[in-house]
Amino acid sequence: MCGIVGYVGHRPALDVVLDGLRRLEYRGYDSAGVAVLDGGGLAVERKAGRLANLEARLDEVGRDGFAGTSGMGHTRWATHGAPIDRNSHPHRDTAERLAVVHNGIIENFAALRAELEAAGVELTSDTDTETVAHLVGQAYAAGETAGDLPASLRAVCRRLEGAFTLVVTHADEPDQVVAARRSSPLVVGLGEGETFVASDVSAFIEHTREAVELGQDQVVVITREGYTVTDFDGEPAEVKPFTVDWDLSAAEKGGHEYFMLKEIEEQPTALADTLRGHFADGRITLDEQRLSDQELRDIDKVFVVACGSAYHSGLVAKYAIEHWTRLPVEVELASEFRYRDPVLDRATLVVAISQSGETADTLEAVRHARGQKARVLAVCNTNGAQIPRESDAVLYTHAGPEIGVASTKAFLAQVAANYLVGLALAQARGTKYPDEVAREFHALAAMPDAVRTVLERTEQIKALGRELSDAKAVLFLGRHVGYPVALEGALKLKELAYMHAEGFAAGELKHGPIALIEEGLPVVVVMPSPKGRAVLHSKLVSNISEIQARGARTIVIAEEGDETVRPFADELIEVPAVPTLLQPLVSTVPLQILAAEIARSRGYDVDKPRNLAKSVTVE
Ligand code: AGP
Ligand code: GLU
Repeated sequence: MCGIVGYVGHRPALDVVLDGLRRLEYRGYDSAGVAVLDGGGLAVERKAGRLANLEARLDEVGRDGFAGTSGMGHTRWATHGAPIDRNSHPHRDTAERLAVVHNGIIENFAALRAELEAAGVELTSDTDTETVAHLVGQAYAAGETAGDLPASLRAVCRRLEGAFTLVVTHADEPDQVVAARRSSPLVVGLGEGETFVASDVSAFIEHTREAVELGQDQVVVITREGYTVTDFDGEPAEVKPFTVDWDLSAAEKGGHEYFMLKEIEEQPTALADTLRGHFADGRITLDEQRLSDQELRDIDKVFVVACGSAYHSGLVAKYAIEHWTRLPVEVELASEFRYRDPVLDRATLVVAISQSGETADTLEAVRHARGQKARVLAVCNTNGAQIPRESDAVLYTHAGPEIGVASTKAFLAQVAANYLVGLALAQARGTKYPDEVAREFHALAAMPDAVRTVLERTEQIKALGRELSDAKAVLFLGRHVGYPVALEGALKLKELAYMHAEGFAAGELKHGPIALIEEGLPVVVVMPSPKGRAVLHSKLVSNISEIQARGARTIVIAEEGDETVRPFADELIEVPAVPTLLQPLVSTVPLQILAAEIARSRGYDVDKPRNLAKSVTVE
């Protein structure tokens, strides 16, 4: 995710763009930058850190050179290249006549970089984006698209793989800004004598509420008179005009009351973006793996360390990694890890999972592990954060900024990233054949659609949440990978609705917790697929029967068509059939929605629950 604004009109572009970026800063805040077309020149300034850093920099250098009425800007959520000045957008071509900003991931950037370097181009950043600046600059400078900026961008887009929103300006074209999109958001705002492009409408609704949403593989040219849209081959394309009826606050939240609700809906995209680019030529690739296959083969034990929801994602990882690699996996709370004096050595792989990459407990666990010569792989959502910086290798999730304190899309992205780690280990160790690894990855790649199906049941789940808003407590039961889901569902309810909630391994019920069951007590049961581990399914049906007999109100998350469980479910929430190990990706989502609706019904701030912080940087 990132924030993008482009403008052509009659106002000072710098003001319009900076105001727009301020509205979009929730989409990314690793760096910010602007480019303004001014008197035949292209004025560019960019700075790592929050937008305020860029504004201070502009005050330092003076804003006189940014007096033009067309330009663009970007707030970054880094995916390739640390959040430092030279990796900040806009990126320019060698002639510094063209600038580009980008949201997304260019999957084939490495090959494009190699091509450019072989042609003698000196790249100055570590990003995937910079390759686009040079390629479009070359296409505009010579050849059949020379002097035609939209055609130059289209020609380059036809070569790109991955997800991208690109906005391009050129010093020779002060009356137009050109943009392209594939699998990444871009909307056009239509004003009087002025036109905007942006990542979302919040960037321009103070100027206009008339907008147009671009479709897949489209290029738009905006001018003071309006806009034209083509496909990547230059053919005219259809678009969808609409009028924005949200206020600014709602616009930033995609029309939702809270960021968390928007982030729950972003989960299919977060999953797709996290998986994107990690399977090529029949092989799983991690990001900055920096651990050779031989080093992965030398591993004889895996430790997963994390906190909270990240810890729950690690519990899911245990089942997958052990099943796929036959390596023993211990999952430990980061805050306990170094005090238990764990047995670590050079053959131990420690996987440190952290959305923020700054959690003190997890960071100290990483330091302890490295002190014991273990190899550390970070799974992190924040490029350049402390934990990845202190790890041997890193696999970034691409959930984008998560504003809600309660983790949702970041959790699902962690689960998916952990599966990639497991598959990379299995691939390196040969415990899964290449065709088996491919089959597992393609099953993973189908999960965004499966999550979309679950999201279609949001209203049913919210209605149940409103019914439960007065409950005194809720229990969550699961078996196998459903057990970490039960723990995560309980955590969501605790941290959002301040309601007592507890997750159990269902088999443990008879060893004590069943004493808690009383008339009307809501118990959420996360059912495995009847087609997966049938024994787990039948045992869990028995557990439901036991608690129902004692008066519990059974709320069952079950696979579509699972008729066996229906008689035992006071409430049935169906999820698509998915492979056994991948089920947490679909069964967690109803629990997120349920907890958020209960909290909302209780009048609590769903984005900022009491006593909590988004990143716990103290031990
Ligand atoms: C989850 O909803 C909480 N916000 C919290 O448990 C969080 O997962 C935990 O603090 C770990 O944070 P991290 O992923 O940034 O390390
Ligand atoms: N992949 C680009 C980068 O890392 C764009 C990231 C974004 O969407 O902000 O710079």
